[in-house]
Amino acid sequence: MEEYDRREFIKTSVPGFLGVLLSLPTLCALATRANACQGRLPAGEPLHWEAFLEAVAREAAKQHLDNWVQEDYLEKISALTRNLYLEDPVIAAAMTKVSERLKKGWVDFHDLEKRVDFAVCLLQFDVEETINPHNHPGMTGMILCASGEIHTKNYDVYKSIEDLTIDGKHTGKCLLHQSSDVLMKKGDVSTLTSKARNIHTLKARQVTQLIDIFTPPYNKERQENSLWYELDERPVAGSKNIYEAVLKS
Ligand SMILES: [Fe+2]
Repeated sequence: MEEYDRREFIKTSVPGFLGVLLSLPTLCALATRANACQGRLPAGEPLHWEAFLEAVAREAAKQHLDNWVQEDYLEKISALTRNLYLEDPVIAAAMTKVSERLKKGWVDFHDLEKRVDFAVCLLQFDVEETINPHNHPGMTGMILCASGEIHTKNYDVYKSIEDLTIDGKHTGKCLLHQSSDVLMKKGDVSTLTSKARNIHTLKARQVTQLIDIFTPPYNKERQENSLWYELDERPVAGSKNIYEAVLKS
């Protein structure tokens, strides 16, 4: 094994030292992120954007494991999102952007982060604005109400179009079971999995901002496989929460 004296060590370190100096800002950012990921932020402190993203990423990566439990995952990312520092510059800038759009009459969404495993999005609704019932094929979803008030309803397929026949014939209709009906206020969370509550509809009572996380995120295939429904206003006779629905093209 070769031996190095102190002088040689210092000599060979100088160019490297200059390189380290140049890399310091990046190293500091990475170190901060790593510290946050190790849970070294003081307990109860809100999570800054980068720390939040890394914590969600660590949980979302588990979706590839055989023993991934979607409900447990949603519980964890709900807690992380509830603890997200909403005044963080990244979120504050997005909030300002969607608010400016709202003043111009453009109500839409703003992608905060899109990765292979998950996507975080900021949505803003105007008063009475509605998203009609739709499903999320193979996806989990978590929605946090950041401000305002919004009415959400979730459904499960009770009888699919293939299952629902009358006199042996398909009717082109299906039956949906309403599994939740909630008025969300600031701090409230709504979740859906690929197996439960996967269909939902939203209608804002006030100007409302939502932060949502979909895992995995929408891609071309999931977008194309999404189904949109039109439900009867009243439940079917003899039921309080089963609704007849047709698919919208
Ligand atoms: Fe949705």
